[in-house]
Amino acid sequence: MRKPIVAGNWKMNKTVAEAVDLVAGLKRGLGEIGEVDVVLCPPFTALKAVGEEISGTQIDLGAQNMHWEKSGAYTGEIAAEMLRELYCHYVILGHSERRQYFHETDEIVNRKVHAALESYLRPIVCVGESLEEREAGREKEVVEKQLRGSLAGIEKGRWIDVIIAYEPVWAIGTGRTATPQQAQEMHAFIRGVLREMVDAGVAAAVRIQYGGSIKPENAAELFGQADIDGGLVGGASLKAVSFVEIVKAALRPAAGGAV
Ligand code: PGA
Repeated sequence: MRKPIVAGNWKMNKTVAEAVDLVAGLKRGLGEIGEVDVVLCPPFTALKAVGEEISGTQIDLGAQNMHWEKSGAYTGEIAAEMLRELYCHYVILGHSERRQYFHETDEIVNRKVHAALESYLRPIVCVGESLEEREAGREKEVVEKQLRGSLAGIEKGRWIDVIIAYEPVWAIGTGRTATPQQAQEMHAFIRGVLREMVDAGVAAAVRIQYGGSIKPENAAELFGQADIDGGLVGGASLKAVSFVEIVKAALRPAAGGAV
């Protein structure tokens, strides 16, 4: 049974003071979390403060990006070890905003994935098609190419640390969510690609999040789909009340978890 994982991607939001405030609300609302991994991904500047606030809780810390080199002349960049030093355990890689605005290619994402794994950071690797690609019926082809490119060359034993986030670009920040059926269909397809790339064991074990306009109102139905293992939440992770509701929606009844 895959443990669901819900991550809050705060993007370029929250000063340190605002971040600390939000975490206080989250801790109050979440209490004992139960059988779900919860990860907060604040901007770099708030990582240390958020890390301190969540220490001793079940909440984990993640970054939103990193560079693939260990150190060097890369002005403005952050290396994996610097994130580890701040007790980050996860890092979002290849988000569509990074791909679109900062021209990250599958090859770049792949280098980052390897660097993250080498430093024992769990990469949350984002894939997803644009509206144009979906309307042209090319969504599966596009996602398969991103998966094969971004996740190439991972050793079999390391796949368990990889999390995939399926985020259709047309659903990100638009209020337009993929239907649970559309999302489930793609998640099942992604498992099929993993089966071909690696094997059936890895395909069954890797956690695949859905992302794109997740809200308390649609979370339970999305998370109830067989191949959806939680979510990557943008806008709704910026308010404690909505993020707590979404985390609760990811608790599977079978886990019997009181929140
Ligand atoms: P959204 O963002 O929930 O605001 O649509 C999701 C994401 O980009 O990770």
